Amino acid sequence: MKFEVKNKIGIRKGILLVPVFEDNLKKLPGDFPEIVKNFIAGRVKNENFEGKKDNLLFTYLHGENLPEKLVIFGCGKIKEFDGKLSRELGGKIGKFIQKHHTSEAAMLNPVPHLPEFLQGLKMVQYDIGRFKTAKKPEEKNVTLQKLEIVTGKKSKDMENGLKEVDILAEAIDNIRDLVNGPSNIVDGEHLCDEAGKIARENGYKLTIYKNKELKKMGAGGILAVHQGAKKDAYLIVLEYRGGKKGESPIALIGKGVIFDTGGYNLKPVNHIEDMQQDMAGGATVLGVFSVLKKLGIKKNIVGIIPTVENLVSDTAYRPSDIITMLSGKTVEITNTDAEGRMILADAITHGATFKPKFMLTIATLTGAVAAATGDRYYGLLGNDNELIAKLRRAGDEVDDLGWPLPLHEDYKKKMDSEIADLRNYDNGSGKFAGSSKGAAFLERFVEGNKWAHIDIGGTAFTGDPKEYETKGATASGFRMLVRFFTK
Ligand code: BES
Ligand code: ZN
Ligand code: ZN
Repeated sequence: MKFEVKNKIGIRKGILLVPVFEDNLKKLPGDFPEIVKNFIAGRVKNENFEGKKDNLLFTYLHGENLPEKLVIFGCGKIKEFDGKLSRELGGKIGKFIQKHHTSEAAMLNPVPHLPEFLQGLKMVQYDIGRFKTAKKPEEKNVTLQKLEIVTGKKSKDMENGLKEVDILAEAIDNIRDLVNGPSNIVDGEHLCDEAGKIARENGYKLTIYKNKELKKMGAGGILAVHQGAKKDAYLIVLEYRGGKKGESPIALIGKGVIFDTGGYNLKPVNHIEDMQQDMAGGATVLGVFSVLKKLGIKKNIVGIIPTVENLVSDTAYRPSDIITMLSGKTVEITNTDAEGRMILADAITHGATFKPKFMLTIATLTGAVAAATGDRYYGLLGNDNELIAKLRRAGDEVDDLGWPLPLHEDYKKKMDSEIADLRNYDNGSGKFAGSSKGAAFLERFVEGNKWAHIDIGGTAFTGDPKEYETKGATASGFRMLVRFFTK
């Protein structure tokens, strides 16, 4: 979709969008066309239109030198209108436009928090049915091709804001394509290709370790989980240098499990079928890297994505196996479905070789986090409360929310094994505090580094999308991380 900032309405087809606030309903700005003013005044008088959030008026504009349709939408009180509301409203209007099969629109007197509004409007246009070869009319996505922003107050700030909307929306779509995409299409090689594209486009350093190199390195965690698969496992490492020369980088590590069957601890029906989403953490890291340079983020960041498949086969790892990890620690496999922590542990050990300022892990690590915080908050854990608080604040600012979960000393002890250094699953009190214990396992590999962990196991994929989301992948954590790195 193309944005055009104009001082007059240019289009003669499509929809004219007019946001109004409760506060200024009676004193509309002078530059509204007469017919629009009269229409609003009539509805205010006769139908008690108040401009409240969710109030919406629609009519056809026959024979006027204007677009064909008019939508007046209430935004509530100016004082209460924030980025979150703006994004939600954008989502709502985006859906409305879609239903009207309209490819052009113009917005008169753009809302405050315009970038958020446009982000919502763009996000909601994502096509979840892109693999259908034949669509019913109601399934056809007519995406908006052109949106005119009609204002006398064009500014450099506005132009930059619009550019950023495009950059972020493209990344969010790419993340959703990767996470929604089935594992026979989005496989390890596909993620490597994506990383390659991003590296080439932005001039990043990219290193990809394949099976052979992983063996040489001794990345036992990654190799064990992947053992049941025929294709290669990968450790993808991207390096962005936007900060000062010599400044320690931040390590951003994302789980890249192409498909998680659970392994021999096989996942049951109703748990297994969405497990193509299990590389959402890795996809988010790719998404973040696709925007770092474009947004001019002034930090050094290393992105690390361990990429495997957790399958069942005669070569797959088993419960009771003992694995020597990249760090040299030994792990007793008490559950093959607790695979994310195995590959992340090796990635953390690799990340530590960069002597990072701090580390972030983002992963669909546990289903347990969904029981705790549902699909509206990812879990935030780690060994540095200040870092966790900063992530949470960044998330709050962009409605990409996280909630802290506890990492008690006793949970850490639960990851001890009687026969190895650690076990990957607490098969005693097992299901309790599952997310905390997953993080507790990771902490053992962090080795004195500052670290925070984002468990998107409940938020990466949803059947109950927010106003500006679509079903399936949500790109959970992406907006938060971008905000966090921008500060
Ligand atoms: N990939 C899953 C977690 C998951 C479940 C993510 C549902 C998204 C939706 C992870 O590898 C897993 O299986 N976790 C188990 C851990 C348990 C066996 C220790 C869980 O939380 O159920
Ligand atoms: Zn699993
Ligand atoms: Zn998993």
